[in-house]
Amino acid sequence: MVRVLVITGAGVSAESGIPTFRGKDGYWRNLDPIKLATPEAFARDPDLVWQWYRERRQRIRDAQPNAAHEAIAKLAQCAGEFLLVTQNVDDLHERAGLAKAEMVQIHGDIFKTRCSRCHWRAELCNAHTRDDRDKSGLAGARPSIIEFSEQDGGPENGVPRCTKCDALMRPGVVWFGEPLPLHETERVESYLQRDSCGVVIVAGTTATFGYIIDWALRASRRGGELIEVNPEKTPLSRFATRLVREPAAVALPRLIDRLVAQLPKT
Ligand code: APR
Repeated sequence: MVRVLVITGAGVSAESGIPTFRGKDGYWRNLDPIKLATPEAFARDPDLVWQWYRERRQRIRDAQPNAAHEAIAKLAQCAGEFLLVTQNVDDLHERAGLAKAEMVQIHGDIFKTRCSRCHWRAELCNAHTRDDRDKSGLAGARPSIIEFSEQDGGPENGVPRCTKCDALMRPGVVWFGEPLPLHETERVESYLQRDSCGVVIVAGTTATFGYIIDWALRASRRGGELIEVNPEKTPLSRFATRLVREPAAVALPRLIDRLVAQLPKT
């Protein structure tokens, strides 16, 4: 049985119309997203940062998973063991049908809101709606998002305040310079420690962070395939056993169909 690790970044959602961070479309009102996604930007102008996140949430709600998300969900069903580590804070992998248990959102979830001081959290996605969607089998359908009232920590305007301690609420994502969430990091580590992987795919990420390269190399340490899918060269490219220089929604369905055909049947 083949163990698989897939690591994705913003490039995988690009063909769903979600701008990448470092691409030319990433700028918002002439502001660099890399400067907006920081604790410093939030401290300086929380209202501006919230406006940016509200617009990003809306864009994600309006988007649909693309063929890359769907191919990854298919691979998960066919692999012996599977984990997706995504740097994307959108919900497109989940809406393509990937189970939460098979993925780690290492940079958080844009539809969560948490207090910047205490640990109180609010989810903007309504659990009941998600359950209904799952039962109906409409895995690719857009979930209905319930905007929480101001009291719940997610107003439509302004900056929400924590109902427990009155500090500013913030999006539940990891900003530049912040530590990775412990629980999610532990899930990745425990997957890597249990065994190595026969197939590692890294798609649509600049692989700027050392931990992305480290996880990909450790997962493929015993001769596993390390496949990079990215139209451009990245710091990971020199370690890859296979380079696919194409957009993810073009390359992944074909690549995954071939991999699945080679996998031992259970
Ligand atoms: N298919 C595959 N790859 C693509 C596509 C596509 N259609 N379009 C762009 N790419 C590639 C680009 O070549 C680039 O390497 O996707 C990558 C996007 O890079 P970034 O915008 O830097 O996104 P990512 O690597 O996910 O950023 C990592 O940094 O900004 C923070 O927390 C944020 O999660 C984000 C992290």
